[in-house]
Amino acid sequence: MKLKHLFALLAAFAITVPAIAEDDTPLGKEMDKISKALKAVNRDLADASKKADNLKKIADAKEACAAGAKMDPAKTKEVSAGDKAKFLEGYEAAMVELGKGLDSLKAAVEGGKADEAKAIIEKLNAAKKDAHRKYKAD
Ligand code: HEM
Repeated sequence: MKLKHLFALLAAFAITVPAIAEDDTPLGKEMDKISKALKAVNRDLADASKKADNLKKIADAKEACAAGAKMDPAKTKEVSAGDKAKFLEGYEAAMVELGKGLDSLKAAVEGGKADEAKAIIEKLNAAKKDAHRKYKAD
């Protein structure tokens, strides 16, 4: 390969890689924390000895949710000026709902109601799909 071709290839990479890495936003990081916490809770629901661990993970998810609610999704910059306020309002409302869902999950785990907790996690995952369709950049 000629040197100038190698440079062209490296330049193309330098442009493409940050574009791919756009998911790695501060909000994306909070979302990752929620995702990891819920996956672990879902896995350990039936194990009564993991109750305290599960409650700690739900508290961590709640914290990440509160932090994420204060951030603007990366997609905000694609929204027209006229639609921005409504977009952000909808985003914040969906994050408030997520917080409420996490509170219900906490109550179910505290009460040892594994089936109820499982159903709440399923609901949260459905709400996640809807929210990502609306607020997550492609
Ligand atoms: C169970 C609930 C949820 C889980 C587990 C979850 C998980 C995730 C994950 C894993 C990512 C990708 C992070 C990355 O690639 O670095 C993400 C991104 C994102 N999520 Fe969620 N999510 C949830 C709910 C929500 C809700 C309710 C909203 C909106 C109100 C939302 C908005 C977003 C946005 C906007 C991004 C892209 C990051 C950005 O724009 O900076 N998510 N989420």
